[in-house]
Amino acid sequence: MTPRLEVLFAPAEFAMLKERDLSRTVCVVFDVLRATSTMVTALANGAKAILPVADIQAALAVRARCPEVLLAGEREGLRIDAAQTGGTEFDLGNSPREFTREAVSGKTIVMTTTNGTRALRACATAQRVLLGSFLNLGAVGAWLGRQPSAELLLVCGGTLEQAAYEDALGAGALCDRVWPEYAAGEAADSAVMARELYRVAESDLGLAVERSRNGRRLLAIPELRGDVAACARRDVFGFVAGLERDGTVRRLSEGPAFT
Ligand code: MLT
Repeated sequence: MTPRLEVLFAPAEFAMLKERDLSRTVCVVFDVLRATSTMVTALANGAKAILPVADIQAALAVRARCPEVLLAGEREGLRIDAAQTGGTEFDLGNSPREFTREAVSGKTIVMTTTNGTRALRACATAQRVLLGSFLNLGAVGAWLGRQPSAELLLVCGGTLEQAAYEDALGAGALCDRVWPEYAAGEAADSAVMARELYRVAESDLGLAVERSRNGRRLLAIPELRGDVAACARRDVFGFVAGLERDGTVRRLSEGPAFT
């Protein structure tokens, strides 16, 4: 029997999603540092939609058709520059602190990142795909409580081909939040593991995120070090974001939906 609550830790597991019937599954994708945290921040600051695309070429192709879109994304953590595109400078990188109201309000953003956009696209056949981040974790938990799905699959974006500690913590925090509704006797060991990991770290989540490999990488880059604390904040936003059938990420609900 398929467990009702499960976590995928590593990108290598994305491949198996192609073989899996996800028609009764809600997937929640976590790329805490930083793609899903950044997308949620962009929507909070008034971005109309975000279109996650596979690579730089796909982003440039959308810009050629729709010159009004903003281009965003990173390679090796840094904003994509003209040398990587053959002349086009991306408007934004992948730092949530860049996605201010002034920069993104009313805009559609085309985004490519190393793992986060890849994880979102891997879940595209699911009944519903939500974005997971600490920034709106309570709202996502409340949404899942109000609209229970047959299966809940938490997908960690990871780093290149490896699992990422901060994503496992995010997934664990959501497991903890929805445990009463989803786990009764039907949680996969992966969900038990993620929840245990989170419970050990929850008293100082900021420190745990700093200790992750991605956290240490970002802390070593002066202009990006502030992203670590920015992405480790809990329940700053009270809305849920999801991947729509047209391939864009948008806000799904408004207001203070969580307690
Ligand atoms: C990713 O999508 O791989 C990450 O968000 C990378 C990053 O910008 O830190």
